[in-house]
Amino acid sequence: MASEQVRITVFDTTLRDGEQSPGCSMNHQEKLRLAQQIDRLGADVIEAGFPIASEGDFEAVKAIAAVIRRPIIAGLARACRLDIERAWEALKDAARPRIHVFLATSDIHLKYKLRITREECLAQARESVAFAKSLCDDVEFSPEDATRTDPEFLCQVLEAVVETGATTLNIPDTVGYTVPAEFGGLIATIRRRLRGIGNITISAHCHNDLGMAVANTMAAIDAGARQVECTINGIGERAGNAALEEIVMAMRVRPDRYPYYTAIAGEHLFAASQTLSEITGVPVQPNKAVTGRNAFAHEAGIHQDGVLKNPLTYEIMTPQSVGVPDSKLVLGKHSGRHALAIRCEQLGYQFDRRALDDIYRRFVRLADKIKHVEDHHLLELIRDTHKPATSATPLFEPLRSAVAATAAASAPSNESHRPFPMAQETNAFGVPLPVAADHHHDQQQEDYLWGV
Ligand code: KIV
Ligand code: ZN
Repeated sequence: MASEQVRITVFDTTLRDGEQSPGCSMNHQEKLRLAQQIDRLGADVIEAGFPIASEGDFEAVKAIAAVIRRPIIAGLARACRLDIERAWEALKDAARPRIHVFLATSDIHLKYKLRITREECLAQARESVAFAKSLCDDVEFSPEDATRTDPEFLCQVLEAVVETGATTLNIPDTVGYTVPAEFGGLIATIRRRLRGIGNITISAHCHNDLGMAVANTMAAIDAGARQVECTINGIGERAGNAALEEIVMAMRVRPDRYPYYTAIAGEHLFAASQTLSEITGVPVQPNKAVTGRNAFAHEAGIHQDGVLKNPLTYEIMTPQSVGVPDSKLVLGKHSGRHALAIRCEQLGYQFDRRALDDIYRRFVRLADKIKHVEDHHLLELIRDTHKPATSATPLFEPLRSAVAATAAASAPSNESHRPFPMAQETNAFGVPLPVAADHHHDQQQEDYLWGV
């Protein structure tokens, strides 16, 4: 890692803001299991819950604080004595506890939700942070709805809480309203205007209502934020929070634009995503960046051909770098002959050009009807195409492994996309190598015509 790269603290709030996502509530055991996974991932801070919210949440935060000793464990509290005391009660045995106090600062929230004046808000922020500081050294303050707060007033509140002991200032885009240039500008303004900002960490907490949570987070980092609050799979209130895996991989894939790094172990990202999905029962959206099941799947013929020749053609990160076992080539109507030939080989069949042409024509007709051609479909098609009565015969006898492959493939499958089976020979990315290189140039031409 280049020495000029800047370290970004990852604050994972999957267990708190993420859990506020409809259908994502977790019980005590599930929270503990996920917290262990987030610890393995290497998050610097784990927000374990909102202890005043329920007895269950209190117990879960307490258990996580007792068991997970490496990262900072944070607990959320409204800006009032009761909440802060409860948070501290849950956190006090943690190796590195943090109380996270929040209070809305926008006029909309002050008028309609809290029914307090700006002066009352300022006093409450000041007092609550001072109280939290009397219990715990590490205090984070969040002015809720910061992006719809008058920046003048926002800076006044932030300055007040720094004076009374906050060490992290988290700037939430609570309703996912801001856009990258504006959010970056706000972070820059805070850094410029705030007295005593020297040792304070500025943090970004973005919601995804306009689909810009990650872009806004990256803009905040560029403007000087050094902590990012995010969740696995981007779960969270309404449209969710900024997705941890997307922030981390943006830095890793584009260090030229984002000269920052985190302590996240990329190879655990997929496992964390799957664990969360398994615990909550909420599937990961197939085209989810980084961790969706299609993130490394290629269906179009030109793409499949390119990836088989060199994954760099259509993959900007390796599946292995985020813990996905290997690329998947989905056989569908956009697939080309190259991918079809390789899949046939993996099922134990090698064909000459003419025989492959026959198979390919039938394959395209079938794919048009059933969208995804699974191995058992393909085997049926191969057998059908090369029935003794027909003119075409495979040049090569089915390989011995075909027997096993046939048996396995003919078993009914519930999965709509099965992983592309690994070939005997794979390249550095785990992608099967083409077997006969000399006729692939011709195939490429054909793929271009047929496979698109
Ligand atoms: O979105 C938000 O404003 C929050 C705060 C509690 C930090 O989640
Ligand atoms: Zn939030």
